Amino acid sequence: LSSNDQQVISAYKWLEKLYHYLLRYAKDGKEGHEYLVTRGLTEETMDVFKLGFAPNEKEFTASFLEKKGFQLQELIKVGILTNHGNEQITDRFAGRVIFPIRNHIGVTVGFGARAISGQEPKYLNSSESDLFQKSKLLYNFDQAKKHIRKQNEVILFEGYMDVISAYQAGVKNSVATMGTSLTKSQAQLLKRYVDTVIISYDADQAGIEATYRAATLLKEAGCIVKVAELKQGLDPDTYIQTYGGNAFLRNVIQASVTFMTFYMRFLKKDFQLHSEADQLQYVQTVLKELAKLESSIEREYYLKTLEDEFDLSMDSLKRELTGYIKKNP
Ligand code: CTP
Ligand code: MN
Ligand code: MN
Ligand code: MN
Ligand code: MN
Repeated sequence: LSSNDQQVISAYKWLEKLYHYLLRYAKDGKEGHEYLVTRGLTEETMDVFKLGFAPNEKEFTASFLEKKGFQLQELIKVGILTNHGNEQITDRFAGRVIFPIRNHIGVTVGFGARAISGQEPKYLNSSESDLFQKSKLLYNFDQAKKHIRKQNEVILFEGYMDVISAYQAGVKNSVATMGTSLTKSQAQLLKRYVDTVIISYDADQAGIEATYRAATLLKEAGCIVKVAELKQGLDPDTYIQTYGGNAFLRNVIQASVTFMTFYMRFLKKDFQLHSEADQLQYVQTVLKELAKLESSIEREYYLKTLEDEFDLSMDSLKRELTGYIKKNP
C-alpha cells in the first residue's frame, strides 16, 4: 500500500467510527437513525453493518479530519470531501446515511452514501481509485464468506439494502454488486468459494437484463446459476420488509428457478410467439442453450416443456438438439 492509500484507509477508519457513533447515540445523527428505523432496521443491524450518518453541516468532516492532521487534498481525490472548484472544502456526503464498504479482508475502502430526503443522486459513492474499485469489490463479502462456504451457496443482490434486510431476516450468505454489472473477476472470486449462485436482482427491466448478463459470466466461471424471481416492481429489500424473512426464504430463495427456466421466460419476451417463424426461432434458440447442459435428464425435462408448448414431436426435437451438441472425442 502506498502511504496515500494508508492515509485514506485511516481516514475511513476514523469516519466510520465517528459516523456510526453519531447515528447511534448523538443528536447530530438522529435524522439518519430515524430514516433507518423507517426502513425497518434494528440497532443490532445498524451495528453489524456499521451504518452511520454524516452530519448535515458542510464543514463538519473537513474540519474533523484537518484537526487529525490529514491532507485534505487526498481526501478530495477519493470523494470524501469536495471543493467544487473553489477554495472552500466541504463534506461530499453531508446529510446522508453512510454504508461503509469493506474489501474482502474487512478493511473499509469506501462509502456508499444514501440521501434521506429526496436529494439527487439517491446514492453517492466514493470515487474510483486503486483502493476502491466497484468492479472488483462485492458488498458484504468479508462477513458473508464463512456462511457462503458452509452453505455452498451465495445470494447475489444489487444493493446495500437488499443485503442488510436479508441479513436481518437471517439470510447471511449474501453479497451485492452495488448497482454495476457483475464482472468476470467478481464471478471468478465467487467461484472460489461456492458452486451455486442465486441471483436475486430487482424485478424491473434493468434487473432482468442484468440477471441474464451476470448468469452468463457466472456460468462461464463454472458456477451453477439459479434465479430468484419477484413480482414486477419489487426488490428483495421491499419484499422482505413487506412479507417477512420467512416468506422470502420459502417463496423466493427456495423457489428460485434454474437458469434454463429463467432463460426460456427471458427469451420469450423477444419473440412474438403467435407467429410461426418466431416460434421456430424461439425453439431453436432454446435448443442451442439446452445443448450446453451436461445432464441428459435435464435436457429431456426441458424438451418436454417445448414438446407440450409447441406441439412438436419429441423425436424431431431430439434430432435437432443432437445437431447442436458438440461431440466430445
Ligand atoms: N447505486 C448507486 N448509485 C445510484 C443508484 C444505485 O451506486 N445512484 C447502487 C447502490 O449500491 C444501490 C444499488 O446500486 O444499493 C442498487 O440500486 P437501486 O436498486 O436503485 O437501489 P436500492 O438498493 O434498492 O436502494 P433503496 O432501497 O435505498 O432505494
Ligand atoms: Mn435496481
Ligand atoms: Mn432503482
Ligand atoms: Mn433496488
Ligand atoms: Mn431497494
